[in-house]
Amino acid sequence: MIKIAPSILSADFANLERDIRRVSSADWLHVDVMDGCFVPNLTIGVPVVQSIRKCTGMFLDVHLMIDKPVRYVEAFAQAGADLLSVHLEADHPTGIAEALRRMEACKVKRRWPCGPSRPSAVLPYLEGLDMVLVMTVEPGFGGQAFMESQLDTIRQVRSIIEKYNPACELEVDGGIAPKTAPLVVEAGANVLVAGSAVYGKEDIPAAIAALRV
Ligand code: DX5
Ligand code: ZN
Repeated sequence: MIKIAPSILSADFANLERDIRRVSSADWLHVDVMDGCFVPNLTIGVPVVQSIRKCTGMFLDVHLMIDKPVRYVEAFAQAGADLLSVHLEADHPTGIAEALRRMEACKVKRRWPCGPSRPSAVLPYLEGLDMVLVMTVEPGFGGQAFMESQLDTIRQVRSIIEKYNPACELEVDGGIAPKTAPLVVEAGANVLVAGSAVYGKEDIPAAIAALRV
């Protein structure tokens, strides 16, 4: 089944509770955490996730675009994240492995975003993962153009998943819209993150429905 995860990066932060309610027909809520260091943008942190948790029962998919994410795993788990993602490039392999261990100890699902250029990096970790995220833009900002070249990455990751851990989900993030959604689903994605294609529309439930292919 295809899941849609609206990204609140494109919401109105002064009306966040209202904008979270507006996407209640979606499956998950995608929360982009950026530190101005790993990516050149600053967004939200632990207290905001805590407040979001209080105002929705939606599954919280928290995407950590921060340097050395191991430092914040427990804090985001306690704040109410259901799923945490960390970037391979955000720390040395030992730091990333420790972040994954802490996620397991905190009982959050784990996943492993591939940067745009590292499809096979997932292989050594795949057995212990619940989800792999393939970025379809450079991380950092909403509203960027979909990178067609990532379709091949999605196909490669899907075939690795089928072979070694078929229960693992495959999420894509960046530039997902009614035109690109069928392409990524055909390539093997089953969780679709969308920011501007949801919050940029007048009729949000219709925008979410338009992504279900
Ligand atoms: C980008 C973020 C995305 C972003 C997607 O680094 O990870 O989640 O919100 O935005 P759109 O759907 O507008 O490309
Ligand atoms: Zn994201």
